[in-house]
Amino acid sequence: MNSTKPLQERIDNYLTTYISQFAPSNLQQAMSYSLLAGGKRIRPILVYLTGQMFNCPLDKLDPIAAAIESMHTYSLIHDDLPAMDNDNLRRGKPTCHIQFGQAEAILAGDALQSLAFSLLCENQHIDNQSKINMISELANASGLAGMCLGQSLDLQAEHQKVTLEHLQNIHNYKTGALIQAAVRLGAYASGDVAKPYYQMLDDYAQAIGLAFQIQDDILDVIGEQELMGKPQGSDIALEKSTYPALVGLQNAIEMTNTLYRQAIDSLRQIPYNSQPLQDLAGFIINRNS
Ligand code: IPE
Ligand code: IPE
Ligand code: MG
Ligand code: MG
Ligand code: MG
Repeated sequence: MNSTKPLQERIDNYLTTYISQFAPSNLQQAMSYSLLAGGKRIRPILVYLTGQMFNCPLDKLDPIAAAIESMHTYSLIHDDLPAMDNDNLRRGKPTCHIQFGQAEAILAGDALQSLAFSLLCENQHIDNQSKINMISELANASGLAGMCLGQSLDLQAEHQKVTLEHLQNIHNYKTGALIQAAVRLGAYASGDVAKPYYQMLDDYAQAIGLAFQIQDDILDVIGEQELMGKPQGSDIALEKSTYPALVGLQNAIEMTNTLYRQAIDSLRQIPYNSQPLQDLAGFIINRNS
């Protein structure tokens, strides 16, 4: 998305500087390789745009945006492992385990997860209570009540026909939770001004989180590998439970449109300029990468 390019560059620069302060090692190389391989940076952009809506300074948001992206990159490295989705291309490059071996890729994921919490702890612009709230939010969103649970349910649902309700649950946990955490952390960093709008922001995040994963499922069917930077047809090969597999491509597309409208309706209840967050919702359902 053109309007978010400066934020994408900002997070890329921040991550590059942050990771390069660690002494060089195989582990640091593997982490940098995946973290700095590009990526759309949707989650950090959500942190920035939510904070910006409430006039939160960007330098307060940098470590938070970086923490979410670090957590997300860990989830991608592990998601690609042979024991999970067994993919060999990510962000246009060989996956971390293809490049560095499985053991190093597992450790790179582990250490990126820890790094996310270090980043939140080290944020000099945030008081201690807010830090605890952010750490707790990110821990919940990424673990047993969030991303990891979703990933486990996703694996269990291979070669199965699950109900639509169950599939929605899987998507909400594996992808929605971290997207919701990005919005929440942007709001937490903004202080009291954002408080009355937590519910609307949650509603927005849940709608775009589900739409994001449905669109990811759709792209697995109709996307172009060169644009996505990851293999097309991976879900079909593994007989994953996805929206196109369960309801058909056309219905899946219609569902993303409905979720888009829900997201916009939620934002309209917030008396601040939510246009950038609206645009991001549009990007999420129309993207081809
Ligand atoms: C891919 O996430 C994994 C999902 C949760 C669907 P992204 O599509 O945000 O991947 P990057 O960060 O741009 O590489
Ligand atoms: C992954 O979903 C969600 C994560 C938590 C990483 P997918 O397995 O569909 O993501 P891609 O398609 O490999 O990026
Ligand atoms: Mg997966
Ligand atoms: Mg995958
Ligand atoms: Mg996918």
